[in-house]
Amino acid sequence: MRQALFCALQLVILLFISISPVEGAKILPKTATPTPGSDPHSYAQPEEALITHLDLRLTIDFDTKTLAGSAELHIDNLRKTTRLLLDTRDLTIRSISLDEAKIPTSWEMQVGEAHLGSLLAIAITPQTKRVHIDYATAPQAAALQWLSPAMTAGGKHPFLFTQSEAIAARSWVPCQDTPSVRFTYAAVITVPPGLTAVMSAENPQAKLASGVYTFSMPQKIPSYLLALAVGDLEFAATGPRTGVYAEPATLKAAAWEFGETETMVAAAEKIYGPYAWGRYDILVLPPAFPMGGMENPRLTFATPTVITGDRSLTSLIAHELAHSWSGNLVTNASWDDFWLNEGVTVYFEHRIMEAVAGKPYESMLEVLSMDELVEVLGEMGKDSPASHLKLNLKGRDPDEGLTAIAYEKGFFFLKMLENHFGRKKWDEFLRQYFADFKFQSMTSEKFLAYLHEKLLHNNKALAKKLLLDAWVYGPGIPANAPSPQSPLLKEVAALAQSFSMGAIPADKIASKEWTTHHWLYFLRKLASPLDGDKLAQLDRTFALTRSENSEILSQWLEIAISAQYQEAYPALERFLAKVGRLKFLKPLYTALNKTPKGKKLAQELYQRNRQRYHPLVVVALNKIR
Ligand code: BES
Ligand code: ZN
Repeated sequence: MRQALFCALQLVILLFISISPVEGAKILPKTATPTPGSDPHSYAQPEEALITHLDLRLTIDFDTKTLAGSAELHIDNLRKTTRLLLDTRDLTIRSISLDEAKIPTSWEMQVGEAHLGSLLAIAITPQTKRVHIDYATAPQAAALQWLSPAMTAGGKHPFLFTQSEAIAARSWVPCQDTPSVRFTYAAVITVPPGLTAVMSAENPQAKLASGVYTFSMPQKIPSYLLALAVGDLEFAATGPRTGVYAEPATLKAAAWEFGETETMVAAAEKIYGPYAWGRYDILVLPPAFPMGGMENPRLTFATPTVITGDRSLTSLIAHELAHSWSGNLVTNASWDDFWLNEGVTVYFEHRIMEAVAGKPYESMLEVLSMDELVEVLGEMGKDSPASHLKLNLKGRDPDEGLTAIAYEKGFFFLKMLENHFGRKKWDEFLRQYFADFKFQSMTSEKFLAYLHEKLLHNNKALAKKLLLDAWVYGPGIPANAPSPQSPLLKEVAALAQSFSMGAIPADKIASKEWTTHHWLYFLRKLASPLDGDKLAQLDRTFALTRSENSEILSQWLEIAISAQYQEAYPALERFLAKVGRLKFLKPLYTALNKTPKGKKLAQELYQRNRQRYHPLVVVALNKIR
């Protein structure tokens, strides 16, 4: 009897707590503004209660530009805590309930720093296993880009895609948005008739009349690898476990361009061990896609600007594929360790390219890498803390860490280690690294300790000699950096110099065998500024203003802007209206901004095109002065 009464009392208390109004809830101290947890870019405290699985149900509405539905989080309440702290950004929470009984609970939102979004604190019990959140996204959600039919290849259907890295997942899924937390997921996505949905998960290969697509991702992933795209998509196989998704108008060219993907996967496996994710497919996005590529597991997202018709830019695929090991299997614990994702990936990318395209080709990539590193260091200053591999991005947007340092300095660090230890030992080390730390997160400190133990056998003198600390914690390029050589590019540079000096005319430039990389190098090695006559001569001979290769065209346009070569301006305007890739837009707007007249044009063009750019591109372009 007493026990029954006690139970009833407990129930009443529980009910009272769960239906108490949001304002009444004391989940968080009243005055506090949220402080990040162990990851400076997340309000979550995963060491208290950990998300292990996500069940997502969303309906896509192109008219209101919103996703609405629910996220059910499975949690492991490690410290038997009574609150779950999540990251959100511009989400509207409708209701939250707990466990299978869907017991309503209270929650609180606290606005944080602009780039971090808002903390969502949810009242749970020590026994809570599942948290069910009904919510909707905002039209301006940082991760989402909504394309009108006019911005697609087919021109008839709208298109939606996500870009969650680095910390934009929270703008479409309430979650512990830190790369140090991993979870499996399942999703049910409802789309308008005639469209296909694909995710970073097991994907359909045909359209479903119902418009209801189900997905499952059985391997644990960090939130930044959550990805979704919706559009008029079709699939073409490029091998038994590889294929391409694209709009019908792009599919054939895309499938040909990426026709060597199966070979790349096999080459990668031979170097660093089995591919862990089942299928490897590529989604080709419309040209508004802000990145070159994004390593969403099982489904790399790629810009169509690498479709050149000669497979000369497929190192982008090698790069995103390499992330299936570095990044997706062994993941940077926070964005301060971004080089562990990108630097290791560029190293692996080069190894894959060496295997499929040969050493002379890879050497070209190395020279281009070093040139880029030197250029970027020139801009940031060689003593800048931004040139450390290990970053300190606390209090700043992690996208600020997205520089060539993580990529190229990271690459040369590993290349230096390969050179010192020899490929055999080095490869064994890296293969073991991926095997030992798969599905885990990694810090610079942990990486160095592992290196010390396994490769240096704790030889402190050797660590000093190799300048390990200078590479990771110091600025600039350490003295023992490799100095890459490419005879192929040497010839190209010599030609650029001769032409710039007027020693040879444009039609004497032997460019017949040139790939995209030769052209880029040639254009970069031209004298700057180059006089108008010579520019016009190059254009007459090689029709550069009419180039359909976006890499070559954007490099050419940059030169044209600095020489104020008016003939190229109509092409420039078309390019800025069509292509949304930050890597191209930033240098072009920056170049325009250097003269008063150019500045005016830049402002005009930016106003006209801004609504067509991805939110992350807008943030970056707004910073150009
Ligand atoms: N993971 C990155 C893209 C990224 C990084 C997005 C940080 C958001 C924040 C991807 O793997 C990448 O590096 N893409 C490059 C292409 C690559 C060939 C260097 C890009 O998009 O330019
Ligand atoms: Zn990358």
